[in-house]
Amino acid sequence: SMGERLWGCPLSQNVVGILCLISVAAALDFKYHHAEELEAYLKSVHAAYPSLTHLHSIGRSVEGRNLWVLVLGRFPTHHKIGIPEFKYVANMHGDETVGREILLHLIDFLVTSYGRDPVITRLLNNTRVHIMPTMNPDGFEATKVPDCYYSRGRYNKNGEDLNRNFPDAFESNNASIQPETRAVMNWIKNETFVLSANLHGGALVASYTFDNVTGSSKGYSRSPDDDVFIHLAKTYSFNHASMYKGTGCDNRQTFPEGITNGYSWYQLEGGMQDYNYVWGQCFEITLELSCCKYPPADQLEKFWRDNKVALIEYIKQVHLGVKGQVTDKNGDPIPNAIVEAKGRPHVCPYRTNQLGEYFLLLLPGTYVINATVPGFKSLLKTVEIPDTTGNFSALKQDFSFPEVSVRSRAASCPKIPLYQELEWASAAVKPTLHHILVLMTVLLVIFQ
Ligand SMILES: *[C@@H]1O[C@H](CO)[C@@H](O)[C@H](O)[C@H]1NC(C)=O
Ligand SMILES: *[C@@H]1O[C@H](CO)[C@@H](O)[C@H](O)[C@H]1NC(C)=O
Ligand SMILES: *[C@@H]1O[C@H](CO)[C@@H](O)[C@H](O)[C@H]1NC(C)=O
Ligand SMILES: *[C@@H]1O[C@H](CO)[C@@H](O)[C@H](O)[C@H]1NC(C)=O
Ligand SMILES: *[C@@H]1O[C@H](CO)[C@@H](O)[C@H](O)[C@H]1NC(C)=O
Ligand SMILES: *[C@@H]1O[C@H](CO)[C@@H](O)[C@H](O)[C@H]1NC(C)=O
Ligand SMILES: [Zn+2]
Repeated sequence: SMGERLWGCPLSQNVVGILCLISVAAALDFKYHHAEELEAYLKSVHAAYPSLTHLHSIGRSVEGRNLWVLVLGRFPTHHKIGIPEFKYVANMHGDETVGREILLHLIDFLVTSYGRDPVITRLLNNTRVHIMPTMNPDGFEATKVPDCYYSRGRYNKNGEDLNRNFPDAFESNNASIQPETRAVMNWIKNETFVLSANLHGGALVASYTFDNVTGSSKGYSRSPDDDVFIHLAKTYSFNHASMYKGTGCDNRQTFPEGITNGYSWYQLEGGMQDYNYVWGQCFEITLELSCCKYPPADQLEKFWRDNKVALIEYIKQVHLGVKGQVTDKNGDPIPNAIVEAKGRPHVCPYRTNQLGEYFLLLLPGTYVINATVPGFKSLLKTVEIPDTTGNFSALKQDFSFPEVSVRSRAASCPKIPLYQELEWASAAVKPTLHHILVLMTVLLVIFQ
C-alpha cells in the first residue's frame, strides 16, 4: 500500500528521501485511504513539492482529527492580488467516498503536471487551488461496512448532517453549528474564495444554488446569477464521461443535461452551497459523482478517469467575468466597498476584501459594474466581458474614488436571516431579492 511504501522511504537522507517521496506521490494507489494514510500522503506531496504546495489543517473534527487542506499554486502560502482562490471539498457526508479519493488523484495529477503540461502550469501560476479531501473524517472512519445507500457514516460524530448545518439564508437554522462546519465557515471568512464545488455521492448530477426557496419560486429557486450557475454546472456535466446524459441512477429520476437547480430536486435548509454563495461571496455547486455512495475500491480508477477532465475544466471557470481593485485618492485599497453587476443584487451585497479586491463571475457580455463606498457617489463602469477563461485571467477593471481618502467602515451584512429580519417590511408578501437589496442599501447609507 501507499503507507507501507512511504514508511519504507529513507526519510532522513534528504536527496534520496525526496526522490523516494516523488515516486510515492506518483504511484498513488486506487484504494481507500484512511485517516493516517491520507495524512501521510498529503505530507509526502508537500515534502516532494514544497514550493508548489502548502499543507495546513483548518480545524479538528469532533473526534479530534485534523481537517487537512492542501493548497496548490505558484504562491501556495498566501493570497496574491489578482489571483483568485478556488476550492474543492469532499466527503462532508462521511459515507460518500468517491470525491475523497479522486481529489487525492487530482492532487497527484496537478503536482506531477506542473512544469510539464503548459495548461496545468498556467492554471497553477494564475490560480490558488485549495483541496480538502475530507470535511467529515469521523464519518468516514465510522463507516465500517461500505454501503451504496444510507449509512450512519453520513453524519459527524454528534449525529449532525453537515450539509444541513450552515446558517441558512432564508430562515434561521436551529442546528447547533458543529466543529467541522465552524472550521469551514472560518476558512471561508479567511480567504477570498471565488469558486468552489463540494463533492458527494448517491446520484450523478451537478446541482446549483438555491437549495431553499426565495420569495416566489415555482419549483425552481433562482439566484440572480442563474445563468452563471447553469454554465458552471454544465461545464462539469459535459466534461464528465457520462453525467451530461442525465440518465441519473435509475429510471425514475432524470436530470436533463446532467444538471439541476438544488431546490427543484429537493429542498434543503442549511446547505453549504447556499452558504457559500450568500454569505461567502463564493459560487459553489454540489457534485454528485457516483450512484453508489461507497463503491468498491476497484471502481476508483474508472471514477478518476470519468471525472479528471471535468475537475480541471471546472477550476478554469474561476477566471470568468471581471475582477479588480477599489482604491481611494491616495491609491490605498478600500475594503468593504460594494461591487455588484447591475441587475444582479446579491442577498448580502458582495464587498471588496482587505486589499480592496473584488471578483465577479459573469458570462461574456456587456454589464454595468457598480462600485459603492457607502456615503459616497457610486462609480458605474460599462464593461464588455470577453470569454477569458482560456487566458487564465478575468477581465481587469479597477475603480478609484477621487473623494474618498479614508478607509470605509464595514458595510455590514445582517447576521440574522433576511426574510425573518425583514418580515415587518412587507406584511402581505415576502420581499423579493431586489426589495431586500434596496432596503439594505438604504439602511447601510443611513448607518454610515
Ligand atoms: C509559471 O511561473 C513560473 C515561475 O514564475 C515561470 O517560470 C513560468 O514561466 C510560468 N509558466 C507559465 C506557462 O506561465
Ligand atoms: C427552532 O427553535 C425555535 C425556538 O427554540 C422553535 O420555536 C422552533 O420550532 C424551532 N424550529 C425548528 C424547525 O425546529
Ligand atoms: C486564516 O489565515 C491565517 C493567516 O493566513 C492563518 O494563520 C490561519 O490558519 C487561517 N485559518 C483558517 C481557518 O484558514
Ligand atoms: C426554507 O425556506 C422556507 C421559506 O423561506 C422556510 O419556510 C423553510 O423553513 C426553509 N427551510 C426548509 C427546509 O424548507
Ligand atoms: C449602485 O449600488 C449602490 C449600493 O448597492 C446602490 O445604492 C445604487 O443605487 C446603485 N446604483 C445604480 C445606478 O444602480
Ligand atoms: C488574452 O490574452 C492575450 C495576451 O495577453 C490578449 O492579447 C487577449 O486580448 C486576451 N484575450 C481575451 C479574450 O481577453
Ligand atoms: Zn452527500
